[in-house]
Amino acid sequence: MSPKIKRIHAMEILDSRGNPTLRAFVTLDDGISASASCPSGASTGEHEAVELRDGDKKRYGGKGTLQAVHNVNKTIAPALIGMNPLAQEQIDRLMIDLDGQPNKGRLGANVMLSVSMAVARAASLSLSTPLYTYLAGSRKIRLPVPMMNILNGGKHANNSIDFQEFMVMPLGAPTFAEALRYGVETFHALKGILSKKGHVTGVGDEGGFAPNLKSNEEACEVILEAIEKAGYQPGRDVALALDPAASSFYEGGRYRLVKSGQGEKDAAAMNRLYDSWLQKYPLVSLEDGLAENDWEGFQAQTRLLGTRIQIVGDDIFVTNSRFIKRGIEEKTANAVLIKLNQIGTVTETIEAVDLCRKAGWGIVISHRSGETEDTFLADFAVAMGGGQIKTGSACRSERIAKYNRLLEIEAELGADACFENPMKKGSTK
Ligand code: PGA
Ligand code: ZN
Repeated sequence: MSPKIKRIHAMEILDSRGNPTLRAFVTLDDGISASASCPSGASTGEHEAVELRDGDKKRYGGKGTLQAVHNVNKTIAPALIGMNPLAQEQIDRLMIDLDGQPNKGRLGANVMLSVSMAVARAASLSLSTPLYTYLAGSRKIRLPVPMMNILNGGKHANNSIDFQEFMVMPLGAPTFAEALRYGVETFHALKGILSKKGHVTGVGDEGGFAPNLKSNEEACEVILEAIEKAGYQPGRDVALALDPAASSFYEGGRYRLVKSGQGEKDAAAMNRLYDSWLQKYPLVSLEDGLAENDWEGFQAQTRLLGTRIQIVGDDIFVTNSRFIKRGIEEKTANAVLIKLNQIGTVTETIEAVDLCRKAGWGIVISHRSGETEDTFLADFAVAMGGGQIKTGSACRSERIAKYNRLLEIEAELGADACFENPMKKGSTK
């Protein structure tokens, strides 16, 4: 007999920035109980699904989630009680209908996602199946290569670097555990180098350093130095990935590289700048190199660079199948950053992943800058099989929790664990 949902409730908890977020609990009639917590972004895309906040300035500066809790307890719970937790798609569609808004603005994407994830977790527990196996369905599971954000600029740091995230990707490692070790050792080497040069080594929201370097180029150079100091060969063992988060320095139709003093550029000049970086640095992936509404610029970038590197759309696609479909038709990029809370349900996120796979596009499963100790993301990344995860640097427990869960999964899979370079031609997307 299939299990039934007996109770759903939520509570206000805190995320890694000390801002309120939501934890939803699902109890089944077979005695199983599970919870899940919603992350939260800072450099959010304009077209993301709505994160419901109270707006009451007297509580948490307006960021409270009491209304969201209420929506789970009073609107979603009564509708879902009695349903089969294995019917994930039916449950998610019902919540979408209950909300009735294209941007999930009535109930809130945070409300729907925390319930959606808790339902999936309860279902997997009820079947005594690991969450990653349950979520995978018939997809081929794969351990992801981490894209580790170890150095920050842009809106995330008070320095002379325009670009938001400089990441290392240990593509040459034979296993996930080894990839993580390569990345962590590079992070520690970078800390040593920065300290020696007299820079601060405090970390930002995702665990990356934010030293006061002089330019965007210096950021790449110091990371290359760290890769070598850690005993690895840049490009072969550990490559670079970049997320400029270009919407944050796009103003009045121009890209303003104010922090580094490189002046104003149009999309074509930005694309030439990235092209010149490809000649100098072992860059394999470029995310949001242009602004979220610059579809034409993205298309030109993909034409210019897309056969050599991965062009990832984050804010431009916001994990929304409608935007991804347009992107595939117009060849706007060749990969998508997948964030569950940008769209608001597990079902729609999986739909976005499947669209990418069908088009042969890259899939990068990503955290948000505000996270919790929930490790759903790790299982989700393995289940989707895209072979790439973005879950921060090599410190801060909310990031490390995901890495530790991935270590557990790889150990559990033993000889069946698949780990491969997702950038290699012929690698399964
Ligand atoms: P966010 O940023 O989670 O603050 O939106 C991360 C990113 O741009 O990838
Ligand atoms: Zn991004």
